Amino acid sequence: MSKSTAPSASRKMALIAFIQAQNCSNFPASWRHPAAATDSTTAAYYQRIARELEAARFDLAFVDDRLAMPDKYNNSHRDAVEYGIRTVKMDPNPIMLAMGFATNYLGVASTCSTTYNEPFHIARSFSTMDLMLGGRAGWNVVTSLNDSEAANYGREKHLGAEERYDRADEFMEVVLGHWDTWEDDAIIIDKPSGRFADPDKVHPLGHKGEWFASAGPLPVPRSAQGRPIIIQAGGSARGLEFAARWGEVIFSLFPTKEVGQKKYQALKAQIAKAGRNPEHARIATACFPVVAETRAMAEDQVALLDSLVKPIDQLVNLSELFNYDFAGRGMDDPFSDAEMENMTGNQSYKQRVVDISGTKNPSTNDFLKVTHRATIREFPLIYGTAGEVADQMEDWFVSGACDGFVTAPTYIPGTYEDFCRLVVPELQRRGVVKSEYLGPTLRENLGIPRAEIGDWK
Ligand SMILES: Cc1cc2nc3c(=O)[nH]c(=O)nc-3n(C[C@H](O)[C@H](O)[C@H](O)COP(=O)(O)O)c2cc1C
Repeated sequence: MSKSTAPSASRKMALIAFIQAQNCSNFPASWRHPAAATDSTTAAYYQRIARELEAARFDLAFVDDRLAMPDKYNNSHRDAVEYGIRTVKMDPNPIMLAMGFATNYLGVASTCSTTYNEPFHIARSFSTMDLMLGGRAGWNVVTSLNDSEAANYGREKHLGAEERYDRADEFMEVVLGHWDTWEDDAIIIDKPSGRFADPDKVHPLGHKGEWFASAGPLPVPRSAQGRPIIIQAGGSARGLEFAARWGEVIFSLFPTKEVGQKKYQALKAQIAKAGRNPEHARIATACFPVVAETRAMAEDQVALLDSLVKPIDQLVNLSELFNYDFAGRGMDDPFSDAEMENMTGNQSYKQRVVDISGTKNPSTNDFLKVTHRATIREFPLIYGTAGEVADQMEDWFVSGACDGFVTAPTYIPGTYEDFCRLVVPELQRRGVVKSEYLGPTLRENLGIPRAEIGDWK
């Protein structure tokens, strides 16, 4: 098995759409855009997007998740509700299915937390969806973020980062163990003899660990792609270790191409060190594409987006992201060591604020400088004409900064319509992305082999 970190010549750029089951994207002001759709609580909204993405040969659409309304800021949900800052958050699994049932080739995935679920439930739910969709399902594995989520599950505090990932590692062993309890040829369906399946080919799991015990076998057989694709986006040292061990699609946040090149190489090397083939993991970096017929029109669109942002968007988002209340303090007051320690949310992003501000005691303003247009993360904005956007994406891809992109919408459905209409044909003309799907399963389209029993151990 090759452990090379160089991209293979026939490899195509992966295109992944970032979907939110709510009123806005992770650019919270997106719902205020004059052309933003307002029917985001209907199946039709998600199915329109899915069909558009499939027509453009996107590999995957994934639905993100949070298990609470943002209510850390001022210890209240009021501002989040009043200003529509990521307020609605519907269950991502039915949304994923709605998208999958409206399409034939598009991969679909949803986000489920290892901190607030049982592995048996996730194993059953995702293998069922994978069967229903003919092998097009994926699971975005997250460990969740903050105390608001803990409170909805009867816990006082969100687990610390290390414990969260300890639990998540064992969670994965149980889920993947369950997915291996049926051998591929276990089903017989021989009506005359009355034999449904071969009991020698369906095995118990018998897991007893520190966090979980689960007996098995799973009452769901394997799918056309073997098992759902595992997606992961850890950013901290421990998160990256987790991604290198389990992630088949790995979401990353590379603010520049140069940073991307270094981190991409390092992560591929880490995947090889974990005993896996790095070519079987696709690293996709998140961006906001803004494209228009002329550069001036794209610049006008960016200016319009900026005009939609309210300062409260950022404060509510910061509080949610860092699991810390940013209300009631001077914008330039530095956070003490103890206060920084108490920010138990996204650790990798906190480190980034420290690195960029050059102080271990940044202020709210230092945090805000690192956030980009009131998103909760620093996604690069790639804007211009179709040719200019395609140039940048192609440059990142061929220079080894990523295997593909997670495209985040600045408003919906406009971002996807513009991207699919203008950028995708340009990327297809250059041979950088697929013009046709390679097969019916998500693994085939991502160039990841069918999953075999025990190949994850
Ligand atoms: C593109 C992308 C999508 C993400 N989606 C979610 C999500 O839906 N829910 C969630 O709780 N975290 C999500 N995250 C956060 C990651 O799961 C992870 O917590 C974060 O990158 C910080 O890494 P760390 O946990 O190792 O500190 C996402 C991250 C990225 C880059």
